[in-house]
Amino acid sequence: MTTLIRNGTVVTASSTNPADVLVEDERISQVGPALGAPAGARIIDAAGMYVIPGGIDAHTHLDMPFGGTMSADDFETGTRAAAFGGTTSIVDFAIQGRGTRMRDALDTWWKKADGRSCIDYGLHMIVTDLANSGLEDMDDMVDEGVASFKLFMAYPNVLMVDDATIFKALSRTAKNGALICMHAENGSVIDVIIAKALAEGKTAPIYHALTRPPRAEAEAVHRAIAMAEIAGVPVYIVHLSSEDALNQVREARDRGLPAFAETCPQYLLLSIEELERPNFEGAKYVFTPPLRPKEHQPKLWDGLQHDDLQVVSTDHCPFCFADQKILGKDDFTKIPNGGPGIENRLQLIYHYGVNAGKISLNRFVEITSTTPARIFGMYPRKGEIAPGSDADLVIWDPDARYTISAQTHHMRVDYSMFEGFEVRGNARTVLSRGEIIVDNGQFLGKPGRGRYLKRAARGGAWK
Ligand code: URP
Ligand code: ZN
Ligand code: ZN
Repeated sequence: MTTLIRNGTVVTASSTNPADVLVEDERISQVGPALGAPAGARIIDAAGMYVIPGGIDAHTHLDMPFGGTMSADDFETGTRAAAFGGTTSIVDFAIQGRGTRMRDALDTWWKKADGRSCIDYGLHMIVTDLANSGLEDMDDMVDEGVASFKLFMAYPNVLMVDDATIFKALSRTAKNGALICMHAENGSVIDVIIAKALAEGKTAPIYHALTRPPRAEAEAVHRAIAMAEIAGVPVYIVHLSSEDALNQVREARDRGLPAFAETCPQYLLLSIEELERPNFEGAKYVFTPPLRPKEHQPKLWDGLQHDDLQVVSTDHCPFCFADQKILGKDDFTKIPNGGPGIENRLQLIYHYGVNAGKISLNRFVEITSTTPARIFGMYPRKGEIAPGSDADLVIWDPDARYTISAQTHHMRVDYSMFEGFEVRGNARTVLSRGEIIVDNGQFLGKPGRGRYLKRAARGGAWK
């Protein structure tokens, strides 16, 4: 199938040009002015539209066991919702069970995605145990295209690993070229604060945020970067939420260290007051790290502007309010941690970033697509509009008005963190490897068409 996208403005991380895009089968074959239409080509008119690389969400949790329940979107519903919002690739997380092999986890997550994913997907591996053959397992995973590992400095007795394990994992990447992603919060300190709060009868959702202070995040970010520096390898901080943590990343980068970090729309746009909503609705905003006081938001935008933060992902980890969040009605520690967002990332960052004059159009593409592709070993196959790249393309209507709501979203969750937010700018047509999967609010893709992305080691964080 040949497709010509005509009359649009092609926007990449580095340029904005009126140009046509010719797609042959699954790849882009030409980009340039006034390309002729080959006989039989399908024509897409993109007049008045931007043509951008498909979004890449490098942090999602689909069909994930957590907090005694499962995240509400599986690979079918989650990737379908992602596509509606202009995201054409995700990197989700497989979880190594303690005392088990990483290959078992990889097989489990492949089975979850196989036959269901509507867009291409990669996998990070969450490391819970490096005893026995864990380090060899890491090399094995890299050979399978799992070129990044997440380690937790929080959730003692569940997911947290000690500093020795973190340091061993970091050091191993010097050999295998993977990237360590850190959930950076001092879990041991936080657990003491939580125990005190519960003993004082403080059980409401707001205490989730009040027991996880920004300094506990900053301390862990500092420690993670220090360990990476000693090991002589890059490190990537996931879901960075606070000014305190950001300052640690900035300080490291100013010293020339390969420290990288992502933030998420919720930290840029929502604040701690959400957890005080009446009727237990604050539980809708319980995720980790927690929302911070408003003053942190402009600091995070500043971090994106100055490249102290390189990526915006969602940490999409939905739990329904009615039957999942409610598990913590009498004890905030039992509220499943996570929030939905896979569908709204581009809309929110475009509207509150580009429309608000905080970031340029090119920076928007860079932080939502090109940099995640580079850092996580998918570039230039993904995250670029150039001959040879996969034809993952979004025809972006800069004037489309849209009100975000659980009534109309496609995520399988009964609330929206951004309910009632009015945005201007939305995906009109979405192509994944040359196939139109969303057009004017209609889903045209098929579950199972998404392919596993075997990612390369020594991606952009290593350069
Ligand atoms: O609360 C969160 N963020 N849930 C998902 C798991 C994680 O730590 O990323
Ligand atoms: Zn995390
Ligand atoms: Zn996460």
